[in-house]
Amino acid sequence: MHADTLKLGVNIDHVATVRQARRTAYPDVVEAARLCEAAGAAGITVHLREDRRHIQDADVQALRREIRTRLNLEMAVAPEIVAIARAVRPHEACLVPERRAELTTEGGLDVAGNRGAVGEAVRALADAGIVVSLFIDPDLRQIDASVELGAPVVELHTGAFCDAQGAAAERELERLVQAARHAHGLGLQVNAGHGINLENISGILEIPHMDTLNIGHSIVSRAVLEGMTRAVGEMREAMAAYRGGRAGGAR
Ligand code: PXP
Repeated sequence: MHADTLKLGVNIDHVATVRQARRTAYPDVVEAARLCEAAGAAGITVHLREDRRHIQDADVQALRREIRTRLNLEMAVAPEIVAIARAVRPHEACLVPERRAELTTEGGLDVAGNRGAVGEAVRALADAGIVVSLFIDPDLRQIDASVELGAPVVELHTGAFCDAQGAAAERELERLVQAARHAHGLGLQVNAGHGINLENISGILEIPHMDTLNIGHSIVSRAVLEGMTRAVGEMREAMAAYRGGRAGGAR
């Protein structure tokens, strides 16, 4: 493998979103993780939210046991979740901001403005042998604060770039490029994620020094459409056994 190969971490939260819509046992997130790994994912990412809207505690435990690559747990700076992470010990934990009313993680973590609480969480996770990453906006001040708190990895929030068009997108991309250079220069591992899809990936690939991209929603969305023909075909095949049911049968 080329030394600069960019790794893909697949975020499978929204496989659990489909399951939680009905509280069924399927789709199975461990099975989804195995399929991602078989397709070449270097790691599996899940976000155990405080409101448990998609991934559940048991999912994190099962994934930690079953997957063969690396588990990256996205989590809020919250004592309850830090305690769970210290018990489950994912390979990596990525600290993210979390608001209950949001549809998804809306901005980066304000590391510079919350040094006390973030620093405490970084130390608690690192003490348990977990590699800690901080999900931050491409802002040099946040990068400096991340280094100060001893985090070895930052994940740059790509959402603003992914949502922008034209000149605004170019400005956002330039911020990401500068941030990646700055973080790399300070010895940090640089990951990136949020909002990445097949349309904007070419811009993302302009960012230097990246180790891993964490991508979720667009991949799960593509998987739903790519699998639709097969899923409908399987059900039609099962229905082909119909012989009029009990009332209309041979009796
Ligand atoms: N990285 C982080 C830190 C995130 O919070 C998310 C969303 O859960 C992602 C990556 C993946 O983003 P998306 O689902 O938009 O690909």
